[in-house]
Amino acid sequence: MPELLIGQTLTFAADPFLEGSDAARHDSRGGVLIDGGLIRAVGPADTLRAAHPGARVHDYGKRLISPGFVDAHIHYPQTAIIASWGKRLIDWLNTYTFPEEMRFHDPAHAAQAAETCLNLMLAHGTTTLCSFATIHPASVEAVFTAAQTRGMRVLAGKTCMDRNAPEGLRDSAQTAYDDSKTLLGRWHGQDRLGYVITPRFAPTSSPEQLEALGALWAEFPDCLMQTHLSEQTEEIAWVRSLFPKARDYLDVYEHFGLIGRGALFGHAIHLEARERARLLEAGAALIHCPTSNAFIGSGMFDMAGLKAEGQRVGLASDIGGGSSFSMLRTMAAAYEIGQLRGTALHPAQLWWLATAGSAAALGLENQIGSLKQGMEADLIVVDLESTPAIAQRAHRAGTFWEALFPTIMMGDDRAIAATWVNGAPIARPAG
Ligand code: GUN
Ligand code: ZN
Repeated sequence: MPELLIGQTLTFAADPFLEGSDAARHDSRGGVLIDGGLIRAVGPADTLRAAHPGARVHDYGKRLISPGFVDAHIHYPQTAIIASWGKRLIDWLNTYTFPEEMRFHDPAHAAQAAETCLNLMLAHGTTTLCSFATIHPASVEAVFTAAQTRGMRVLAGKTCMDRNAPEGLRDSAQTAYDDSKTLLGRWHGQDRLGYVITPRFAPTSSPEQLEALGALWAEFPDCLMQTHLSEQTEEIAWVRSLFPKARDYLDVYEHFGLIGRGALFGHAIHLEARERARLLEAGAALIHCPTSNAFIGSGMFDMAGLKAEGQRVGLASDIGGGSSFSMLRTMAAAYEIGQLRGTALHPAQLWWLATAGSAAALGLENQIGSLKQGMEADLIVVDLESTPAIAQRAHRAGTFWEALFPTIMMGDDRAIAATWVNGAPIARPAG
């Protein structure tokens, strides 16, 4: 039976970094008709109601119906080490991250972590994520299995590293290639799943491994490739010492064919002019991870400058370097970093980044991230008065954007009143 969701609706007809808030489509009494996992119609609630009298109606009142959030860069295996104190990137990896990732040789641990992470994501309104796994093939199986069970559109890949990581957490150039290829063959394009070729970052891959993964990507160019780029200054210096012939950090990836429109570069903070020009030319996507960049002390992403020059940008939690599962908290951090750099991002720009923008960064703009006929029905219902502090501010609002902004700045999972995945409402999981 078709289902008709009624409430305020918000989606984007264009990129608000280019067209301002005029790019947004807000309806204070809108409707979204869904059937068979797809959005069939979007429009004024009364019109849809009259046109589809057989639909089951879910009237959400003044709550906001939005595309589900899209988290363009996370490490699901780091769920249990979120909020680990006191380290910068390289020490944080060695102290907290690698010991936890080591535990994923146990498929039962991986399965449990994947369940916990996806339940938390859904409770926070994130319906699609693009995740790093660990070096263990079972860690990829675990996250795809958990996603498949929930009908979610999820991207993930085996994290490859064959050096500068502890014993037990290293593969080789050959096993990275072989295992990635096997996993890709098994999962890519199954249901709503996509495989992502995943070298962790230049310091933990030998030149041979980067070459093997570049070759794999050339064999399967419709897959995405994800890695990290220019997150911290110490990391950049390390890359320079490991690859002395490279012109800069990006050049390491370029040299091995690891650049292109399907490339996702997490962080991308301390970029040189040549790197920016090359990223733009390649049409690669840069993934902003603002809570992580503040938490690990990495630096301030140049959102305004990068968007103005035409770069493709997505938004992400970067769990567990990031400090929240919520894309609302992530938008708030993006706003604060924008302010520190001298640009106040508009709520339309923030919401776009967390929905259509991240979907486009992942090459999924024709499947998810917008309320539009034919798109997959991953939706969230957002309570714009989810706490007393938010409610009292929202009551003062004179415009829709002013009513939305307190939820962006102060909201969390309490604001997510309902989550629909693949056309079906999900029971609120315990996490
Ligand atoms: N660089 C290489 N690996 C990681 C990771 O797991 N998290 C973050 N934030 N940066 C990285
Ligand atoms: Zn990361």
